[in-house]
Amino acid sequence: MNKKIIIAIIFILILIGGLFCYFAFIGNNKTVLNTQENINDNTVKKQENNTNEENNKISDSSPKVAVIYFSATGNTRKIAEYIKNATSGDIIEIVPKEKYTSEDLSYNNDCRANREQQDKSARPEIENNIDVTKYDTIFLGYPIWWGDVPKIILSFIDNNNLAGKTVIPFCTSGSTEISQSQNTLKEYNKNMNLLDGKRFSSSATQEAISSWIKELEF
Ligand SMILES: Cc1cc2nc3c(=O)[nH]c(=O)nc-3n(C[C@H](O)[C@H](O)[C@H](O)COP(=O)(O)O)c2cc1C
Repeated sequence: MNKKIIIAIIFILILIGGLFCYFAFIGNNKTVLNTQENINDNTVKKQENNTNEENNKISDSSPKVAVIYFSATGNTRKIAEYIKNATSGDIIEIVPKEKYTSEDLSYNNDCRANREQQDKSARPEIENNIDVTKYDTIFLGYPIWWGDVPKIILSFIDNNNLAGKTVIPFCTSGSTEISQSQNTLKEYNKNMNLLDGKRFSSSATQEAISSWIKELEF
């Protein structure tokens, strides 16, 4: 064979060998990189899962709060909203089937509200279905009527199983304190865990309500 041809064959063989080594190296490196990427992905996913589990644990252990209130003229509703803001709980209004008109509330006259308060068996009907099962803590709000809870609050207690639930009453009034209404609640349902509540004036601020909630440490 011609010497030149032999040299050319050797050169081509070296070239093919070089290319083979080059592609083998690249392929290997890609596998290493892919494996590394998979490891990184899995680590990130594991960390995300752990964080989600942690968050679930926190929300599982924190009490589920509802702010449930009746308000005839809006004062108690405002306080209920401030409590909702401070607790991040759900807010639920107790809506009477028969709305209270201003005549119904005209307490210096013979009015519906006065008649209900004087009638031991009065239990005004509630329009909406309220489900308390998923809550551990209930802030229960109402206006003071003749020193006491409006009778629709007793209707709410009759309709719901509050056994074992922490109930924190709050009220608004012209000046009357919460104590008498709180005693009524205590006597009416001995199965709930009734904490001391608080009376607010209609002009109470979000700050005042937030600092009360902090004090409670429920
Ligand atoms: C029938 C009736 C009786 C009331 N009795 C009292 C009372 O005994 N003491 C008091 O300080 N305020 C009394 N009030 C005033 C309300 O408690 C007060 O205006 C309250 O903030 C109203 O809340 P609401 O807007 O959420 O309905 C009475 C109001 C009504 C309509």
